[in-house]
Formats: sequence, structure tokens, C-alpha cells
Amino acid sequence: MREAGVNLVSVGIFSWSRLEPEEGRFDFAWLDRVLDLLHEGGIQVDLATATASPPPWLSHQHPEMLPVLADGVRLWPGARQHYCPSSPIYRSAARRLVEAMADHYAKHPSLVMWHVGNEYGCHVPACYCDVSAAAFREWLQARYGSIEKLNEAWGTDFWSQRYGSWDEIVPPRRTPTWPNPSQQLDFLRFSSDALLECYDAEHEVLKKATPNVPVTTNFMVGFKPLDYWKWASHEDLVSLDSYPDPSDPASAMRAAMAGDLMRSLGHGRPWILMEQTSSRVNWRDVNVPKAPGQMRLWSFQAVAHGADGVMFFQWRQSRAGAEKFHSAMVPHGPVEQSTVWHDVVRLGRELGNLEPVAGAQSTASVAILFDWESWWALELPSKPSSRVRQIEQVEALYRPLFEANVAVDFAHPGDDLSQYRLVVAPSLYLVADEAAAGLVRFVQNGGALVMSFFSGIVDPSDHIRLGGYPAPFREMLGLDVVDFHPLADGEEVGLDFADGKQGRGAIWMDEIHLAGAGALATSIGRPLITSHSFGRGTAYYLGTQPDASATARLLQAAVAGAGVVPVAEVPAGVEAVRRGAARKSFLFLLNHRDAGVDVPIQEAGVNLVDGAQVHPGLMHLPPRGVAVIREGW
Ligand code: GAL
Repeated sequence: MREAGVNLVSVGIFSWSRLEPEEGRFDFAWLDRVLDLLHEGGIQVDLATATASPPPWLSHQHPEMLPVLADGVRLWPGARQHYCPSSPIYRSAARRLVEAMADHYAKHPSLVMWHVGNEYGCHVPACYCDVSAAAFREWLQARYGSIEKLNEAWGTDFWSQRYGSWDEIVPPRRTPTWPNPSQQLDFLRFSSDALLECYDAEHEVLKKATPNVPVTTNFMVGFKPLDYWKWASHEDLVSLDSYPDPSDPASAMRAAMAGDLMRSLGHGRPWILMEQTSSRVNWRDVNVPKAPGQMRLWSFQAVAHGADGVMFFQWRQSRAGAEKFHSAMVPHGPVEQSTVWHDVVRLGRELGNLEPVAGAQSTASVAILFDWESWWALELPSKPSSRVRQIEQVEALYRPLFEANVAVDFAHPGDDLSQYRLVVAPSLYLVADEAAAGLVRFVQNGGALVMSFFSGIVDPSDHIRLGGYPAPFREMLGLDVVDFHPLADGEEVGLDFADGKQGRGAIWMDEIHLAGAGALATSIGRPLITSHSFGRGTAYYLGTQPDASATARLLQAAVAGAGVVPVAEVPAGVEAVRRGAARKSFLFLLNHRDAGVDVPIQEAGVNLVDGAQVHPGLMHLPPRGVAVIREGW
């Protein structure tokens, strides 16, 4: 570990059955030895609470703590994460373990961070058992107070679903056809909260024992079931597990987006890359290894987007178990021959050189709105088109900003947006009154907004906002969406831009009636992309999904119009990201191409990766090469 520059390790994540081999009997001797050894070696510990995989004795004694799927199938033990989040049996057993661990390790000198559970919801995001049903009813009572209010929120007059008492309510289990959408939406909210209660219970124990030790739990990329805005506010720092597919050309963009989201979830504070793989995973159909230099490049990319630490799953490749073909820092074979080990050692050394970057925060003038509730509601069934997927819509508008090296934050629609010049709202289907009013105010006060189709359609109960689509934004956008016209798979419409350029639209077409807005693009004479001066700002509207180059042109115009400048002008395929404030900043240059490239440098500085002086002019970056330039010091 010292050779690889390791200074922090996560320990004990799935070791409940070792730590508590039988109910109430704890065995910490083996873990003491591990922690002592690490401490003697100068390595700090992110100690896991080990509650992500209950031991066999627990499910054997209490099979009722196992989770149940929507169709009534109970999941068996034998893998991991086999617990019902609302089970009092699981919760009290977990609490007892965490209390024992906190008590035993509170004073251990190696302990610097707590790692609660593991990837909450990864395999079992929701449970539909009777215990969960009772907990759901309690959650609903707290939300609505009266059964009348619930009936109103769920629109239960439709299909004779009116409830007379709380006892009649069940989770949206497998039904003859679509369960009530408002009920489904509430169950998604409840399920995120139920797991958060598990996290909170452990968090409380840990904070009591060690008030100054930061607590985290590892998030995942593009993970729908948990409302990470809510979750992140319960953590001391955000951490992420990131496994981009080396064979997918979109991976670099997706990893950048995940990093920007993690930084934003922590309101700009540094986050930590808790897990990545040194090379291959084992859970895709075909597990392509990382290309030479890709692990290093993507590690630096995480730091560029705000990570202050880069960690791996896993240290040593296992000999047995379901993940024995997953790469590790230390491979099965001899390390001397392993390029993976060589790369891991090099990364450790180079990350050590980045010490001055730690803690540096970034600023962005552009924010993309991202809301789990809207995501959930958008993707419930029985919509005009199931082809409108939240992440795809976000990516469609993130990509051109990423490619143009424009710094981007993510924001919740209800956030104060006044620090931004340009806000992007990709298919923001569900919006609360206050958030809608906030967006309108943002434009009124001089902001630029790019909003795409199927936004502002429903309220938080998933009820249509009446008065013409998109009711809260019609005046601001200067238009009415008279009706939706989803496009068939493969169908495209031509776009004629006001500047004479052509493009294509896919997935969706709004029937737009202009009421003050001007058409930026039409399709057979009908307006599809518009802009409207409103108050002191401008609101753009995309009534279709334009092709990539048309989207890029539109966003570039919006960016320039809002007075936002990119981080740097660099060749295509090179990503430029800045961390830190003006005159005390670090410019990350990341060459995602598999060919070398010359990058124009404006300002002298020092490349922290190798300590070399950097001069204005052209700087050569080898294939997948990186530079971190300390500027203006
Ligand atoms: C994560 C998980 C790790 C390991 C890894 C494999 O989801 O937290 O325990 O399973 O994936 O890629």
C-alpha cells in the first residue's frame, strides 16, 4: 500500500458475519489487527459500519426481515443487501452492531471517516412487504394528515380508488394494469426516505460516539431510486462509486456529469471518489478493460470535477466469491508483470503531487436543473411517449456544454439560482409552485433559461397544471403548447433555423402557438424552438429534441448571450476544467483522445503532475495525457 501511495482505505464494508458471528457476540480481534497494521503503516481508515449484508443467522432466525418485490416474491439470503428497509428486526440488529463498533473504534487513531452501509438501494431500492406497507401508511399519514387529503392528492375518484380508511392502503404492488401514478410517486418518495432512516439511525450513533469524524455513504452514478439532494444534506461529505464503461465513447462525458452532480450535491464542497476499478468490472455482459492511461485519466478527471480523493474497489483481487474476476489494485497474478499495478503505483505518486489542489472549490455560471421527484414522475408509465427519459434529456443538454468546456453546476429547481447567468431545465415535468415562481423570477431578473419540452406539466401530486401547457411558464416563454406530438421511433422532423441553418428534431414535437416569443427554428412553417425576452432576461424553449449539432449551436448562442465564457479554448476531445478561484486556480487539461494533441496555453504556470514549468504557447499532451497547471501564483 505504501508503494502505491495509499493513505486511506475503506475497511469492513461487508463483514457483519465476521464481526458478529452470532447474535450479540462480537469479535473485533481480526479488525483490530487490520486497523493497527494500517495505523503503523501511516494509513488512515474509512471504517464501514458493515450493515449492507446481514449475516445468515439473522435472516435464518427472522425470515420476515427479508425484502419482498412488487409481485410478492420474497428475496432469499445468499447475496447481499437482503433486508427490508422498514424491518424493525433489521434496524435494531444494525443499530446494535453500529453501537458496538462505534464504542470499540471511537478512539482508534486510524479512524478518520465513517462509511455507513454501502450503496443504499443498489439491489433493493424498495420493499413491498406488509411491514413496509404499514410504514408507508404511517409516512402517508404524516404527509397528508387526513384520508380526504390523500384521496384528493391521489385523484382516487378515477377508477373507483377512493379510500375510506388508512388500513385500506397498500404499496403499489403488482396490479392488473398501472397502479395510481400519485400513489407510485409517493411510494418512491417513501422508499427513498425509508432507506434514509436506516442511514440516519446509524449516523446518529456514530455522531454521538465521534462527533468530529465525518460520515458518508457511497452514492452511485445515474441512480434513480434515492433522492440524493435529500440524502446529501444528511452527510458530512459526498462520496461516489463510478464505473464508466471503457468501451462507450460517452463515458468521459457521463463521468464529468456525475462529478459535477456530486460537487453540486455537496454545494461545491470537495467530494471523494470512493470506488472505481483499476481496469475491468465483472458485472457487464462483456467486461472490457480500461485502455492504457484511461484509469489515470479518469482519476484526474474526478479530481478536476471536485474530488479530493481517489479510491478503488478493491485492494486485492479476491480468490473466491461473486467478484473474483473484478479488477483490483493488486491482481491475482504477480505484480511485477502487471500493468494495472504499475499504473496504480504511478497514480498514487502523481496524486501525491496534487496536494495543493485539495480543498479548492470551483465556480460555474451555468446550472442544469435536476430533481429526483421530477425524474420519478416523468418516467412513470402511461405518458405521451415513454421515449422521454430524464437522464437522456439531461445528457442531451449537458453534452454540448461539456464539449465546449463550459463549467456547469447542477441545481435543484427550488434552489436560489441568482448566482447563475444561464439555467437549463431539461424536461422538468414536475415542478412545485415555489420552484416555478423562482424560475420565472430568475428570468425576470435578467437570467437566461433554456427549457426543453414536457416541462412544467404537473404539480408534486402528479396532477396536470391546467390553463394550457406549460401553465407556470407560458407567460415567461411567450407561447402556448397547444398539444404534444410524440414522434415514432426513428421518425425525425426537419428544422429550419432563422439563420438559414438546417437541423433535425426527434422524439417529440410540440404544437406551439406563439404569444410573444420569436421562432428560432420552425418545422414546415410551425415554430418549434423559440426565444422570448421576459423582464430583463431571455427564455428559450425547445419543443423537440434537436440533433446534437443543432443543440450545440443553440446552447453556444445561449451561453454567449448570457456572457458566459468557457474555461479554455482547446482542441476537440480535450477537456478543460478549472478548480479554485481566479488568480489562485488549477487548470486541468484532460486528453480523452487516443492520439496526442497540442493544446494552446495562455498563461505560464507549473504542471503539478510532473513539476515542469509551463509556458504560453503549445503544450503537447500524449494520448490520454493529463496536465494540472497551477496558474497565477
Ligand atoms: C459496487 C459495490 C462494490 C462492488 C463494486 C463492483 O457497486 O459497492 O462492493 O460490488 O460495485 O464494481
